[in-house]
Amino acid sequence: MSLPIVRTVHALRTLVTRWRRAGETIAVVPTMGALHEGHLSLVSAALARADRVIVTLFVNPKQFNSAADLAAYPRTEEEDAAKLAPLGADVLFAPDGEEMYAPGFSTTVSVSGVSEGLCGGHRPGHFDGVATVVTKLLLQSGADFACFGEKDFQQLHVVRRLARDLDIPVEIIGCPTVREGDGLALSSRNVRLSDSQREIAPRLAEILFDAAARLAAGAEADATLAASRSALMNDGFDMIEYLELRDETTLAPVGRLTRPARLLAAAWLGDIRLIDNVAVSP
Ligand code: PAF
Repeated sequence: MSLPIVRTVHALRTLVTRWRRAGETIAVVPTMGALHEGHLSLVSAALARADRVIVTLFVNPKQFNSAADLAAYPRTEEEDAAKLAPLGADVLFAPDGEEMYAPGFSTTVSVSGVSEGLCGGHRPGHFDGVATVVTKLLLQSGADFACFGEKDFQQLHVVRRLARDLDIPVEIIGCPTVREGDGLALSSRNVRLSDSQREIAPRLAEILFDAAARLAAGAEADATLAASRSALMNDGFDMIEYLELRDETTLAPVGRLTRPARLLAAAWLGDIRLIDNVAVSP
């Protein structure tokens, strides 16, 4: 079983038009490739909702902060297509850089509010890059549904906001984070962890889940977050970018837990940046 690959917006739209004429619904799963079980769970969610599923693969240069990180990003298109084919996805849309950003490309989609702070505070321009490419992918695919992982929780909020603000007729589906047996959230960057870093990495999830349980039991927020930051450093993380409690629906900072919230963190092991988040109920 092989998966058709299209590389131009024109070819994608030809397919989409045919499916629309047949009255079929369409879901899109935007990815940057290096697919793991987390991505495959997004594809399953898409298949459960729509008649046709488009998976996109584009390593978007506009959302990387450093040329080194962009160059180091794994590119495994053949393996990705082989993983997708048995699932029943209909097409892989894998445009090149010029197809996505034609010479003279000058438009940026910038979402204020939910893009600010957290990853947005530490990765200038990152969410403008994400918002610009996701807007294009939603318009190119014309999908009824688009699936994104909760692992990138702030990204999910940015995408929901832009779809609402720009009247893009798509339902954004947030899908739960997929974890290794020891709790480490799946990420394309995990393959770069050394053996010793891989041993430390699951502590990020453990510490977040532990803090969430303590907050739910009534522990004071500032002290709990401070203890979690110390625990991460004591356990071998090299740097903590942020560890914060935010409102589940607005992402506004939360001082006292009175509504559903999220505990979100980004921390570094060597030159590898890990992010994770867990739900916190009052
Ligand atoms: O989450 C990702 O892999 C990317 O940010 C996305 C949504 C595919 C946009 O490039």
